[in-house]
Amino acid sequence: MAGSAQITAGPRVPVHVAVIMDGNGRWAKQNGLQRIKGHERGAESVRMAIRTCRKLGIRYLTLYAFSVENWGRPKAEIDALMRLLRKFLRDEEHELHENKVRLRAIGRLADLPESVRAELNRVMAATAHHTGGTLVLALSYGSRTEIAAAARDIARQAKAGTLDPETVNEATVAAHLYAPDIPDPDLMIRTSGEMRLSNFLLWQLSYAELYVTDVLWPDFREEHLVKAVEEFSGRQRRFGLLG
Ligand code: IPE
Ligand code: IPE
Ligand code: MG
Repeated sequence: MAGSAQITAGPRVPVHVAVIMDGNGRWAKQNGLQRIKGHERGAESVRMAIRTCRKLGIRYLTLYAFSVENWGRPKAEIDALMRLLRKFLRDEEHELHENKVRLRAIGRLADLPESVRAELNRVMAATAHHTGGTLVLALSYGSRTEIAAAARDIARQAKAGTLDPETVNEATVAAHLYAPDIPDPDLMIRTSGEMRLSNFLLWQLSYAELYVTDVLWPDFREEHLVKAVEEFSGRQRRFGLLG
């Protein structure tokens, strides 16, 4: 692709891209299909996103796949999503190895069905040594849950006398989040047009560039991702300082 060639390995390529993959249900509805068909088709966009990030030199890709709030959806949809997730992990392991991509996960992983958790843990362990890039799946993820868990951990340590409350600062909080070793996202993409964060990485997105597209996630292709990255590369990030 011409677009990708232009920006490959450029200095303005984000290190970490986070995506709210939204619009699967609307895509299905528009096409007269059941919601699960939208999720199935969305899995193809996930494959594309992983491949394109690898091509563009984006080191970290975080995908919001299932939120803590999503547990409130009908059981049939949740079951179908969990089945798809397990299938995705099985089918993609080969490509993760091929591209030297390490798999990580953030969220309340203990909430996941045992069969999904086992597959997830297996693929994470099998790819842990890869250094070509990192794919982070946000599963049963909620940012407020994450921050509350960090606060709980910190309080426990203070109570046990292993941490002086006076020393608690931003770095302390960040160190107690789910993936403290992963840099904050530079670019956050949301598909399907909703202008909200939906409890996604509230702490980590503090200074991310936001990009919202009307394209529904199942229709999101390489050209759309390249366009988002191109727009990012033209933005001026100031971090509260003077330009
Ligand atoms: C995003 O698509 C996928 C998940 C939340 C699991 P939706 O299922 O939210 O699709 P819409 O928003 O109803 O179109
Ligand atoms: C956010 O999408 C969660 C995921 C993409 C996994 P939702 O569809 O659940 O969010 P809302 O309901 O539009 O805020
Ligand atoms: Mg949605």
